[in-house]
Amino acid sequence: MRLDDVHTIGLVGGGVMGGGISQVMALAGYRVICRDIGDEVLAKTRETILNTRFGIRRAVEIGKLDSTQAEAAISNLNFTTNVNDLAECDFIIEAVPENLELKQRVFKELDAIVKPEAVFTSNTSGYVISEIARDVSDQRRTQFAGMHYFSPVPAMKALEVIFIPDVTTPETTECVRGVGERAGKIVSMVRDTPGTYGFLVNRIYAAARREADKILEEGIASEDDIDKGMKFGRNWPVGIYESRNSTRQGWL
Ligand SMILES: NC(=O)c1ccc[n+]([C@@H]2O[C@H](COP(=O)([O-])OP(=O)(O)OC[C@H]3O[C@@H](n4cnc5c(N)ncnc54)[C@H](O)[C@@H]3O)[C@@H](O)[C@H]2O)c1
Repeated sequence: MRLDDVHTIGLVGGGVMGGGISQVMALAGYRVICRDIGDEVLAKTRETILNTRFGIRRAVEIGKLDSTQAEAAISNLNFTTNVNDLAECDFIIEAVPENLELKQRVFKELDAIVKPEAVFTSNTSGYVISEIARDVSDQRRTQFAGMHYFSPVPAMKALEVIFIPDVTTPETTECVRGVGERAGKIVSMVRDTPGTYGFLVNRIYAAARREADKILEEGIASEDDIDKGMKFGRNWPVGIYESRNSTRQGWL
């Protein structure tokens, strides 16, 4: 799949991340079909996209979007509980809970339903992508990559694109990078590496966090002092512990 052939994006899971990713993709001009398992969840997803702090209407109020752009984005959004509605998607972004078996099962089901040329991506926080792709066809595995966003998606610019060496085709990698860039993200490329968890950003943060916890446990400095040092000495805008509190699931 070439970047210019991507028109419709299927979001699988409309929770914290799936909702945010749906929003940025709709704003980037893509038709979005967001699939979750219940109508109530999807109603909440829609409400979050439209009316919360990082939502589309707030963006209009504070002058980040004009109302024509907002209306265009809203009309790009579609919600469904029926997995078959994803059949004609050009590009899939999976954002179901962080459970390897669940993700493997979801992709196996999608592989049988979604058109063969579509690109598949996972927003896992750190599982090895080739393991998530274990049960898809050999062809689909060549069109498979990781696409790791950060929360809240409309506000956080970083995106890690993870390619499986010698498996993900260069065309797929470029397509995934391009979709991310069209949605306004700054992309870091990462090699999928068996035996690891966390790609780039989460691994580095976890290492810093381990060291900070040790400093805290040994009574060398307080949380507040660690955060002050990291904010004003290293330009980490929310330090170590403040960043832990700034997303719903901590360091994901
Ligand atoms: N929350 C974060 O800060 C963050 C950041 C980066 C990556 N992630 C990753 O993103 C993924 C999703 O995390 P989240 O925080 O959005 O979780 P969440 O619990 O808010 O949302 C997951 C959604 O998936 C739905 N779901 C479950 N099974 C499904 C299925 N078979 N088909 C379709 N939908 C299904 C659930 O109903 C729920 O709405 C995880 O892999 C997580 O590790 C999370």
